[in-house]
Order: sequence, then structure tokens, then C-alpha cells
Amino acid sequence: MSLKAYRAALLHALDDPTRAPAGEAVAWYDDGLLLVDDGHVAAFGAYADIAPTLPEDTPVEALPGRLITPGFVDAHVHYPQTDVMAAWGSQLLDWLNNHTFPAELAFADRAHAKAAADFFLDQLLRNGTTSALVFCTVHKGSVEALFEAALTRGMRLVAGKVLMDRGAPAGLCDTVESGRADSDALIRAWRGRGRLGYAVTPRFAVTSTNAQLAMAGDLAAAHPDVLIHTHLSENKDEVARVAELFPDAADYLDVYARHGLLTDRSVFAHCVHCDEAALRRIAAAGASVAFCPSSNLLLGSGLFGLQKACACGVNVALGTDVGAGASFFLPQMMGEAYKIGQLRGEALHPLHAFYMATLAGARALKADDRIGNLLPGKEADFLVLDLAATPLLARRITAAATWPEKIFALSLLADDRAIERAYLAGRLAHRRA
Ligand code: GUN
Ligand code: ZN
Repeated sequence: MSLKAYRAALLHALDDPTRAPAGEAVAWYDDGLLLVDDGHVAAFGAYADIAPTLPEDTPVEALPGRLITPGFVDAHVHYPQTDVMAAWGSQLLDWLNNHTFPAELAFADRAHAKAAADFFLDQLLRNGTTSALVFCTVHKGSVEALFEAALTRGMRLVAGKVLMDRGAPAGLCDTVESGRADSDALIRAWRGRGRLGYAVTPRFAVTSTNAQLAMAGDLAAAHPDVLIHTHLSENKDEVARVAELFPDAADYLDVYARHGLLTDRSVFAHCVHCDEAALRRIAAAGASVAFCPSSNLLLGSGLFGLQKACACGVNVALGTDVGAGASFFLPQMMGEAYKIGQLRGEALHPLHAFYMATLAGARALKADDRIGNLLPGKEADFLVLDLAATPLLARRITAAATWPEKIFALSLLADDRAIERAYLAGRLAHRRA
């Protein structure tokens, strides 16, 4: 038994604020207590309620001026793309050819992959991201390097080898058979080790043949515990290209659906150009969408219709989509999502944004029974946020009267300096220098 208690303000999401009854979706405590026992949450609530129940010698750390939240969940990110963040001047298809594919070629080298994986996971933690759904490259070794690094850190992480058998440089292409063999071997070797999970990862319809997409669907069916992770309807030129490549498909989503890739374990990044029928189909399947606002703005992909997707019943989580996204910091994605909403005449509520950055991501990863909030029994992945990390943040947050206002200010004014500590399963994994 290793009881440890933390006294601070507390905030977590319990459900989707667009669907749950008012007041039931998010819980906060101005003077709260988080009790951790052996890596799991033992209690989370008002200090006055929990303190009298603690065994006598329980260590209680007082954290005045701090806010404890669940760790953030990045529902779509590419670890091999750290070095192409902030690339100037192109949209998706040119950006892939001119920046991304050259950077991914380097991951044939295992030492390069290991160094990139260590840097990437350290960036996630310093930005408060404790779980993520991650694209690797086509190279099997790129996945092994990331899984080894995540296992060492004790992170709950889902990742997969990219499948691409056309439309990319030869050094980045696999085949139907090598893609199957490598993915199958990775699934058997890594899924369920520590806190790791696997996602079958066809990059997108542009870079896979029908035969490879069918193989990906077979793999997913053979391993019902793995996720499916791909891109969908991000950019208008991409959508037109898919229509040329798959003239028989009813639409872009149908290319995936007809190969068994539309399931309750599927996560589709972007969906900027999906119509209502496609969104309803995604919702009916129980699949999730990763909304990646920073990427959508930087690549000029378009303004995602969050209200429409929610009205269609889709679980929408947030992704940074690094390296098309220009930050690892999920609260910044909350702020960028708000700005996209403003351009569409829809004001995203700060607590809905917070839900998307935490519990909705856990739902997308099919891990909401373990992470996403700090209900008793969950794994203790949590953050200590310093709401006075900068003079401006301190001033603005003090001026904000309510928690929604404070969270909104955080999403627009904070950066990784606000993450004072990140804990993984109750163990300190990052402390701000
Ligand atoms: N579509 C296919 N590959 C990619 C990628 O690496 N990044 C983004 N943003 N979209 C993609
Ligand atoms: Zn992406």
C-alpha cells in the first residue's frame, strides 16, 4: 500500500457536456483532495469530505494555487514529424512530398528512431500529454523504438506501423504481404505489454491499394483488441484524388468501410470535408474523429464543423497532428478549436474543449475505463498545473471569476510552463525545471 494525497483545486470531465444534463458533465473542487493508492485513484473530491477518512499517517502534499487535472490525451499525432513542425508554404499533398516523406525516410535508421522517440515522449510529458494515439513510419523499427521508450516511461500509448504500398517514395513503401507480416508481428510482440496498445495504421486511401486496405481490415478483424487509425477527408485535393483512385466508392469514408475499417475501434483524423451522412455513419459505427485545429489551420485544410459532428452523435477528440500541427500543447488545441468555431459562428464552450482534450480522447482510445478522468479506480495519470506560471497567466486567471473562464484563459494564454508536474500511474514522470 502506498497512499499519497494531494490538496489543490481539482477539475475533471465526467461526460460529454453536449449530451449530459447541465452540471453533470464536469466536476470541480476549489479545495480538493486527490488520493492515490498504488498507481490508481483512491478518492477525488472535496478536501473537507475526504480528509477525515484518511488513515492517520497518510502524507498530504498541499499545493496552493495549483490545479490538478487528468493528463491530456492526444488523439492524433505523428512522432516522426517533430522535425517538420512549422514548415512554410504548402498544403497537404505537397507538404507530404516536400517535407514529411523525406523526414520519415530517416526512420529506417534505428538509432535515429530511438533518439526521436525519446525526444517526442519527453515533449508529450512536458506538455501534459500522458496518453496518445501515434503514427510511426512504415519501418517496423520505428514502432519498436517508440514502444520501448513508452514502456520505460510507463505511458499508456497506442501506436502502429504505417501501411503504404503506393504513392510514396520507394524507401517508404511496403507491400500487402510485408505490411501484414510486420503489423502482425508487432501486434503479437507489443500489445498489452505495460500500458501499450496497437493500432492498424493505413496512412490514408491515397497511399494504399484496395488489396492493402483489405489486408488492414483483415488484421483488425483478427485482433479485436487493436484500434484502426487513419486520415479521412482532410483536404479538398486529397478528397478529389481519392475519388479518382476509387471510382466505385460512394465517398471517401466508403473506401474504408468496404474494407472493414469503419468499426467502433476506428479513429479518423480530420474529417473536415465529411458530409452529414458520413458523420452519421461514423457515429453509428461508434468510431471517433480526431479534430486537429492547429494542423487544419496551418495546412489550410478547412474549418471543421464541430457542432455538426456532435449533432450527428460523433465522439470528437482533439489531436495536435504534430508535425502538421504547430504545438504539442493540448490546451492550445482547445484555443485553436475555439477560433475555428468563431470563424464558423459557433462558440465552443471551454468545458467542452476540456472534455475533448481528456475524456473524449480516452474514449477514442477505448481506454476510458482506465484514463480520461480521475474517478476512483482509474489509473492515476494526472497533472499539477501552475496557474501562475507567467505573470500574464497569473493576472488573467486571478481576474477570471469561474472555472470555465479560467480554463478558457489557460487555453489561450498558457504554454508548457503551466505544466508543473505530470504523473503516470501515480509516479512523477515530469517536473518543470
Ligand atoms: N494525410 C496522410 N498523411 C498525413 C500526415 O502525415 N499528416 C497529415 N496532416 N495528413 C496526412
Ligand atoms: Zn496526421
